[in-house]
Amino acid sequence: MDALDQILAQAPARIAAAEDLGALSAIEAELTGKKSVLAETRRGLGGLPAEERPVVGAMVHDVQRRLQEAIDEQRRKLELAAEDQLLRRDRVDVTLPGARPPVGLHHLLSQTVDEVVDIFTGLGYRVASGPEVELGWYNFDALNTPPTHPSRLESDTLYVDYGEPSDEMLLRTHTSPMQARYMEQHEAPVYVVVPGRTFRADALDATHSPVFYQIEGLAVDEDITFGDLKGTLAHFAREFFGADRTIRLLPHFFPFTEPSAEMHVSCFACDGSGCRVCSGSGWIELMGCGMVDPNVFEAVGYDSTRLSGFAFGMGAERIAMVRHGINHIKHFYENDLRVLGQFT
Ligand code: PHE
Repeated sequence: MDALDQILAQAPARIAAAEDLGALSAIEAELTGKKSVLAETRRGLGGLPAEERPVVGAMVHDVQRRLQEAIDEQRRKLELAAEDQLLRRDRVDVTLPGARPPVGLHHLLSQTVDEVVDIFTGLGYRVASGPEVELGWYNFDALNTPPTHPSRLESDTLYVDYGEPSDEMLLRTHTSPMQARYMEQHEAPVYVVVPGRTFRADALDATHSPVFYQIEGLAVDEDITFGDLKGTLAHFAREFFGADRTIRLLPHFFPFTEPSAEMHVSCFACDGSGCRVCSGSGWIELMGCGMVDPNVFEAVGYDSTRLSGFAFGMGAERIAMVRHGINHIKHFYENDLRVLGQFT
């Protein structure tokens, strides 16, 4: 009974000191398990004199109950603490900023083409696209370009299949064949822009690439004048390069326009006084243009006595290079994010 008293005196402190459930189970086994003093005493009850047996028996029972109570209470405490810790560890702070995945951007060429197309759709133009592998007929003949024209030589044009001049297949050298294709498919009036990929037998240098992009424009209606061409291109220049820009049209030659012109915009960097951007001239060449040649109308079955129109064609890389001061056309195709990432 002294031994049991001693155990009872020390037990509460030991139980309360158990820091986790494992340690508590070890203490429980030691105090109440098969090899405990308590169990031993219980086993020895039968050998005690009859008058002592109830007294010791009652004490064994009492000690057993008190130890178990203390152990159960500590176990509840430890379980609660463990759950608490779990909840704390799994807590989500919904006010923390989220993790942002890297987001891509449209390629500068796409941005440029989209912006030009937007300017013209704002004027009521439609948008069309056509084949990159083209017949000689649409690329040249329908555009008033004779079989002997030097641009048809293999030094300029990439051929896919040879044949009679108009049947030969080639990679289109400009987006102008869509002038003919579109007029064949649509009645006048026509107001359309055609962005697309074009190909020439050019070696890569700072301003040339065998593959590049053009944006074609075509307006055909009754009473379209050269003044409409100039006003439309001036509007484009102001939208694309800024409200203060002016343009000039210099005489030029294209087989499919008459008269033809080279369109220049006043330099946005020096406002026309001359700088490095415009090579000192104050003007930057942007595109070719002109009034649609009556022979083109005839080739597509339009009445050239009733209709008139203008057309223009610009290089997408070129206008983007001018605007952003990009010094080599290769930057459009190398897909170097250090370059492209600047144009957000
Ligand atoms: N197709 C011509 C070129 O590639 C540009 C152009 C288009 C000129 C339309 C006049 C009219 O150089």
